[in-house]
Amino acid sequence: MAVFETVAVAFWAMLPAYVPNNAAVLAGGGRPIDGGREWNGRRILGDGKTWRGTAVGTLAGAVLALVLNAVGGDVGAALGVSLPEFPVPVVLALPFGAMLGDILASFLKRRTGRERGAAFPGVDQLDFVVVSLALAAAVAPGWFREVFLWDVLFVVLVITPILHVATNAIAYTLGLKDEPW
Ligand code: CTP
Ligand code: MG
Repeated sequence: MAVFETVAVAFWAMLPAYVPNNAAVLAGGGRPIDGGREWNGRRILGDGKTWRGTAVGTLAGAVLALVLNAVGGDVGAALGVSLPEFPVPVVLALPFGAMLGDILASFLKRRTGRERGAAFPGVDQLDFVVVSLALAAAVAPGWFREVFLWDVLFVVLVITPILHVATNAIAYTLGLKDEPW
């Protein structure tokens, strides 16, 4: 695969996993998932993981995947690349996996004594990709192997932290997020 196509496929395939976290930041608030409960004197997840943020984030990613499916043929033709189509299970697995990865990261943050909003370098940038990809691979193994060739996976692991840092810096600058990570 040409480099441009590899990057285009990686970015396209991951968009439904990139959007949920940002949508959750915009939609967050309301009841925390852990209901305020603690474990060993620390919150299980913390106030930063809410039902509303998780639901809206997942929905936003799923709707985006459907939109990408609708326009993928035209966009691919315009770019001269073949873009992947998301099967129905993947439409849900990518965004839900992204939210779940972020929730698991908060669980680990609380267990390691990090307060809400504390940075956890490495985990903050990749948690959502790893779980998102794992869930997509679980629900659609054939599709996953076809789309996520090694070079595509490599590009995903390189561009994701960059995009994550950049979008969070923007959200912070716009006053949407309390910390720039
Ligand atoms: N958010 C949410 N539900 C989620 C994820 C995020 O409501 N499942 C919202 C919350 O308002 C959260 C904001 O998005 O404060 C930023 O998300 P994130 O940085 O992941 O949470 P933090 O508040 O930094 O908390 P943590 O330390 O647990 O990551
Ligand atoms: Mg945070």
